[in-house]
Amino acid sequence: MRAIVVYESMYGNTRHVAEAIARGIDPAGNVPVLPVSNTEAIDPGDLDLLVVGGPTHVHAMSRESTRNAARTAASDLAGGLLLEPDAAGEGIREWLASFSRAGGMAAAFDTRFDAAPLLTGRASKGISRLLRKSGFELAAPPESFLVDKATHLLAGEEQRAQEWGARLRTTPPDAPGGSE
Ligand SMILES: Cc1cc2nc3c(=O)[nH]c(=O)nc-3n(C[C@H](O)[C@H](O)[C@H](O)COP(=O)(O)O)c2cc1C
Repeated sequence: MRAIVVYESMYGNTRHVAEAIARGIDPAGNVPVLPVSNTEAIDPGDLDLLVVGGPTHVHAMSRESTRNAARTAASDLAGGLLLEPDAAGEGIREWLASFSRAGGMAAAFDTRFDAAPLLTGRASKGISRLLRKSGFELAAPPESFLVDKATHLLAGEEQRAQEWGARLRTTPPDAPGGSE
């Protein structure tokens, strides 16, 4: 299976989840995990499965303004947040909007605070909407992985991400998941 996981991450949590999902899809480690800043070489039409994830910012996918806010928060050393090397540049929203029509199977995930989705929002809903708009069929409903108030992944979330990835691998092409 030709699969790839593309992520956006300011502080590393979404990257850790992306890496766990890739391990779940292929425990042998053959699924590339790429930051959205390094996706020039990807031909989405050439994949069996495209998995895309990003952090929830202001209830949705990040925007330039929210990424700037995240960078500012990281420069506040009291917060203890380390900025990812790939945190500069555009996000998932801009990348997906630049797709010409593709096709095939895809899945969306996000990271967000540990509270009711009605309160937090979920970037994965917008990601899956853009994926469908580009012609992808969803292999699974959008999924969230949770961080605590200090922006650390909750215990067990990487394991859950790995299991979610494993289920994506085994999802038959005509399984339900395309409708939210
Ligand atoms: C500017 C900004 C806005 C945020 N807005 C939300 C939000 O609306 N809902 C939520 O659940 N989390 C929100 N968060 C928390 C992020 O979802 C959390 O920091 C993210 O999951 C961490 O992922 P990362 O380490 O990959 O950047 C926000 C964080 C930042 C920096």
